[in-house]
Amino acid sequence: MTAPVVVADHLARHYEVGGGLFSKPATVKALSEATFSIAAGKTLAVVGESGCGKSTLARLVTLIEEPTGGALTLDGLAATPDNWRRLRSTVQIVFQDPYGSLNLRHRIGTILEEPLKINRPEMSAQERSDKAREMMRLVGLRPEHYDRFPHMFSGGQRQRIAVARALMLEPKLLVLDEPVSALDLSIQSQVLNLLLDLQERMDLAYLFISHDLSVVRHVADEVMVMYLGRPVEFGTKEDVFAAPRHPYTKALLSATPSTEPDPARQRIKLQGELPSPLAIPAGCPFAPRCWKAQDRCREARPELTGAPHAAACFFPEGL
Ligand SMILES: Nc1ncnc2c1ncn2[C@@H]1O[C@H](COP(=O)(O)OP(=O)(O)OP(=O)(O)O)[C@@H](O)[C@H]1O
Ligand SMILES: [Mg+2]
Repeated sequence: MTAPVVVADHLARHYEVGGGLFSKPATVKALSEATFSIAAGKTLAVVGESGCGKSTLARLVTLIEEPTGGALTLDGLAATPDNWRRLRSTVQIVFQDPYGSLNLRHRIGTILEEPLKINRPEMSAQERSDKAREMMRLVGLRPEHYDRFPHMFSGGQRQRIAVARALMLEPKLLVLDEPVSALDLSIQSQVLNLLLDLQERMDLAYLFISHDLSVVRHVADEVMVMYLGRPVEFGTKEDVFAAPRHPYTKALLSATPSTEPDPARQRIKLQGELPSPLAIPAGCPFAPRCWKAQDRCREARPELTGAPHAAACFFPEGL
């Protein structure tokens, strides 16, 4: 078996905030104890409510930010700052909003060739242009699009451009942060199918971030469910969808529209609001909203245990 493309070991990112004239310093635990690995050709989907740390994880894995704890290995190399330069082309990111992430004043050809200009100084202008045109073909753009500007494209096409740009340096890992959330439903599946096609063709590993479980069901091999900055469930897509073990996962799934109406399925409504990441509840962070919580849950935090289908819960479902 080949080594995984990415290994995250108890990865954490905490932010110190406040500490000004009127506020006491505090720590936002945006991400704690993220542990996973992704092999070539495989997709790990990360799901969870807004603010649970998904984009923070994306920034760490794509070397935009340094972790405050834990370790990250990319393509067998420790992702420490002295290795960042060497690893820059190993991992690339695609954001939710291609409008914000593409330079609107540049033509598509220029946008696609820019990463080569910076990172592949040995390539000639002709080679760069050939590669850009080849990539455009792979993502389903037409040759005449080379000289157009981003505003001349639809949202779905712009996301194709963003994907093409991310692939120009032939990365091994693509981090996709809500890549289809801004697109119309009809366009979403086209872009998802393109991503699956490219993954197979190039043997890419995907870290796929989404709050939309129907999208995750379509693309994932494994699923990591996050709550308030921590993974609370981890397993294969089949296991997590068919038999969620953490009550939070169960609640998330119950709120997702299903294609097959199931009269036995009940929608679970979570109590209370999502707590602030500045004031993460003691014990199990999910306990204040959990219908199964007991005293023990308010006193100690359950570890993520039970791999290959793990849950951080003292009273997991199905046991
Ligand atoms: N630079 C920062 N300084 C302080 N807090 C931060 C910083 N970046 C993120 N956070 C906080 O960390 C938490 C996680 O944020 P993150 O953006 O990772 O969430 P997310 O899961 O991507 O949410 P969404 O689904 O809305 O995109 C949030 O509470 C956020 O406010
Ligand atoms: Mg985010």
